[in-house]
Amino acid sequence: MEHADADPVGARLGRVLVTGAGGQLGQALLESFPDARGLTRAEWDVTHPAPVGLAADLVLHTAAWTDVDGAEDDPQGAAAVNVGGVQHAAALGAPLVVWSSDYVFDGTKHEPYVESDVPAPLGAYGRTKLYGEGAAGDHAWVVRSSWLFGSTSKNFVRTMLRLGAERDEVAVVDDQRGSPTYVGHLAEATRHVLELPYGLYHVAASGDCTWAEFAEAIFEEAGLATRVRRITTDEFGARAPRPASSVLRSERGAPSLPHWREGLRACLDRLG
Ligand SMILES: NC(=O)c1ccc[n+]([C@@H]2O[C@H](COP(=O)([O-])OP(=O)(O)OC[C@H]3O[C@@H](n4cnc5c(N)ncnc54)[C@H](OP(=O)(O)O)[C@@H]3O)[C@@H](O)[C@H]2O)c1
Repeated sequence: MEHADADPVGARLGRVLVTGAGGQLGQALLESFPDARGLTRAEWDVTHPAPVGLAADLVLHTAAWTDVDGAEDDPQGAAAVNVGGVQHAAALGAPLVVWSSDYVFDGTKHEPYVESDVPAPLGAYGRTKLYGEGAAGDHAWVVRSSWLFGSTSKNFVRTMLRLGAERDEVAVVDDQRGSPTYVGHLAEATRHVLELPYGLYHVAASGDCTWAEFAEAIFEEAGLATRVRRITTDEFGARAPRPASSVLRSERGAPSLPHWREGLRACLDRLG
């Protein structure tokens, strides 16, 4: 008989490992799964097989090469982490959650992408993430999300707060659209993903915006008077191509997350 357990998932998880524990999602997962053991890059460089004797009942694999532009310069380095790392995590033999990206899509669909849409990555980072999905194996939940931000690590919100404190105006791209997703919300939703069958799921914040709109919301919520100058992707001139529109939605019953603006407020609350 089922117990009226306050934490039915947590009670049967066993030994949970979080890779990439120094990253923003890794940090958030360690809060949502307080009994989990986090491994930083120093403790396990996932381009190598797992340390001898490492055992787990569930692996939450967040370690990744996330430098989208840097992946263009060193695609093999990115693949070693984003594909080889997933292979090594899967080799532990435990059920696995891996996170993938909206950048597996080319951004030409004018509606949200669902799980059955065909990926067509534009750049090296997206390609490595797509191959990484394939490397996860059959006992895995592959969770695609988008535009992650949180109160730790390097991300758009923290960059905008720093620039906003230094400048009167910041130029921000206004022709890429996505759903900025708060890692705290994504980490909590992961607990619900574990109740679903293994497979591919899209889990991203509700609502969508451009980077410029997101920047304006950040300054507004943070009480900064900084202006946003809207520029194009071409004007910004990043090395890696990025999808113009990569809003993710689920057709497979994945948990829906709060609106990105709610995530932004939760993140700013954490930053004080
Ligand atoms: N960030 C986004 O916008 C975004 C969007 C969609 C999906 N995702 C996916 O979500 C997951 C989590 O991303 P995130 O935003 O939390 O990334 P993050 O903050 O950059 O964290 C990634 C972590 O992985 C670590 N790492 C890198 N190479 C490693 C290696 N060889 N061995 C072990 N650890 C290594 C990094 O360590 P160092 O700090 O030492 O480099 C960092 O702590 C990733 O799979 C990412 O592809 C991210």
